[in-house]
Amino acid sequence: MDSVEIPEVVLNSGHKMPAIGLGTAGSMAPSAEQLTPLFIEAIAAGYRHIDTAALYRTEEIVGQAVAEALGRGLIKSRDELFITTKLWCTDADHDLVLPALNDHLGTLGMQYVDLYLIHWPVRIKKDDSDSTNTMHFDIRGTWEGMEECCRMGLAKSIGVSNYSCAKLSTLLQYATIPPAVNQVELNVSWQQQKLMEFCKDKGIHVCAFSPLGAYGSYWGINAVMESPILIDIAAARNKTPAQVALRWIREQGATPVVWSFNRERMRQNLQIFDWELTDEEVAKMQQIPQQRATTGKDFVSPEGQYKTLEQLWDGEI
Ligand SMILES: NC(=O)c1ccc[n+]([C@@H]2O[C@H](COP(=O)([O-])OP(=O)(O)OC[C@H]3O[C@@H](n4cnc5c(N)ncnc54)[C@H](OP(=O)(O)O)[C@@H]3O)[C@@H](O)[C@H]2O)c1
Repeated sequence: MDSVEIPEVVLNSGHKMPAIGLGTAGSMAPSAEQLTPLFIEAIAAGYRHIDTAALYRTEEIVGQAVAEALGRGLIKSRDELFITTKLWCTDADHDLVLPALNDHLGTLGMQYVDLYLIHWPVRIKKDDSDSTNTMHFDIRGTWEGMEECCRMGLAKSIGVSNYSCAKLSTLLQYATIPPAVNQVELNVSWQQQKLMEFCKDKGIHVCAFSPLGAYGSYWGINAVMESPILIDIAAARNKTPAQVALRWIREQGATPVVWSFNRERMRQNLQIFDWELTDEEVAKMQQIPQQRATTGKDFVSPEGQYKTLEQLWDGEI
């Protein structure tokens, strides 16, 4: 089968990132038997950007798939891929960041990651399974740890995830290396105009997680894929609703990170680069009712740093 050539975007770090990524946080418990062939097929189909995290327990499987793709000659070198991983909340503190990245690299079997993200602006007590048991998150110190990883060449670019405009503003006051990326929920039913404008103004690229509203996942919503507006546009353009949803993200200047466990849908999701939405279609999509799929409610508790969702998102909810 044909492989799609994926365009790239240039990050403020000077590094290039492929303009669509493969998500690896599915609803099922990750199994190497199922996922390794899928990831290899994704690379064969043209995916060059893979999004993993300590939380997803897919780093080792990604590493195995990359090694096998190299062995089969699907790629000539690991440098052809863009691999993102994320610092989990139990390691979100100055002195824990670098050791955590060394662990990620060991699990991935790689010398560096292309992008290392702070998964949430949250610190959870180590070895504590209760995610509401948060400690004070040191936004400045944690970022200094990330900068150290970047300076050492272990992470080519560094960034954050689930940061509001207010938290990005705070971070930018201290940062000597500005975040290259903010990975957030972005889709037609959570359009985040304020955050998009802020990030554009500051040169921070937005990666869009749950671009399909995590359709069918236990954390997902149907508002994207079952939107009558999206379905009508897709039918009129002879595209699928997923392709319209992903293309919309691309046209916002963001990079979707999309997951499919189905080989045909995984390939279909790459077909978003050789056509455009009309202004009229984009205007219609602005009318889609807005709601978040990922609220972060697990990180909110009366004893924790964030007592309300308002505080976690600094009012951007
Ligand atoms: N930074 C963060 O906090 C954060 C949070 C959530 C996710 N993420 C990252 O973002 C990635 C993607 O987000 P997500 O997994 O939440 O959701 P998503 O990509 O919006 O949706 C995935 C769901 O959509 C279905 N799907 C995919 N393509 C489809 C198509 N063409 N037609 C119909 N259904 C389709 C998939 O089912 P099938 O497998 O059956 O196709 C899957 O259930 C994650 O895997 C993860 O890497 C990051």
